[in-house]
Amino acid sequence: MTSDAKILRELYRVGDGGISGALLAERMEVSRAAIWARIEELRKLGFEIEASPHHGYRLLQSPDLLIGDDLMARLNSVQTIGRQIQVFRETASTNELAERLGRDGVDEGAVVISEFQTKGRGRLGRRWVSPGGKGLLMSVLLRPALRPPEATRLTALGAIAVVRAIERCTALRPSIKWPNDVMLGSGKLAGILTEMNAETDRVRYLILGIGLNLNQTEPDFPPELHDISSSLKMETGETVDRAILTAAVIEELDRYYGKIQAGAFSDVAAEWQQSCSTLGCQVSVRFGEGLVCGLAEGIDDDGALLVRTASGIVQRITGGDVSLGNSGDRSATQGL
Ligand code: BTN
Repeated sequence: MTSDAKILRELYRVGDGGISGALLAERMEVSRAAIWARIEELRKLGFEIEASPHHGYRLLQSPDLLIGDDLMARLNSVQTIGRQIQVFRETASTNELAERLGRDGVDEGAVVISEFQTKGRGRLGRRWVSPGGKGLLMSVLLRPALRPPEATRLTALGAIAVVRAIERCTALRPSIKWPNDVMLGSGKLAGILTEMNAETDRVRYLILGIGLNLNQTEPDFPPELHDISSSLKMETGETVDRAILTAAVIEELDRYYGKIQAGAFSDVAAEWQQSCSTLGCQVSVRFGEGLVCGLAEGIDDDGALLVRTASGIVQRITGGDVSLGNSGDRSATQGL
């Protein structure tokens, strides 16, 4: 952890009470002058830090920016995901950057965030569109001990982690539309793109990409997405603290990933099923030229959707575009 992250962590912990420069210096084993210099740098980044003889240092306000040190400071004892966080102002795609980390042999759990993407990728070859500085665009590098067909489990993990993070930070109760859309009613709040590099029977590494709409308003989305996409701000009427939400997403991802590592995917699947609005509905699933219509009955151990068709056969669906009803219409896909 950098000294800036350590200072911010202390400031978050003490809250309104504040902490003296002497105590900060002692805890970090540096001089008071060194603390003062770092505080000045943090102020330049937009952190409003008060220094008074009575309270010592107090953090009054953090900037509306995603900053690696700030996110590290906010995390509560993560085991794997969030041990390393890199934030970029702009990149083509965070999945692309995380994929590079995967190829370079970087440890699993590395998080890549960007405030803006020029070539954000969505599922099924679509694009993911989000204006700069309003949402969360994040990718996580993972090296799960799974076979390639089991990788859908990580998509389920991503969706339930986002649902729980939103529930922790707002009064909203989102649902999951199989396989990966986090919805509020018919509005899409988040999408997940899982990409992997695998051998026949082993995942080498996997990128879990999450796009979450936070402070966008309707004009931020292209007209063709107005009926499809939503954001936490549009749903609550309030501006969301993006750093708090981001830290919550990372903590929830880490918590659920710990369950998968411990062999308890069934716990994750049970929670996922409870939040899934697709189950029990008549659905149409499009994959390439194919179309399957029927009743969505459940998911299996790998996270695949089980659809009972009119002929009574249960089809196992591992990917595609789901719409409710039998029309096969495209719905709720924030992709162009
Ligand atoms: C979907 O189509 O619903 C999935 C969208 C996933 C978008 C996220 S944004 C961060 C990460 N980087 C990308 O290029 N895509 C994913």
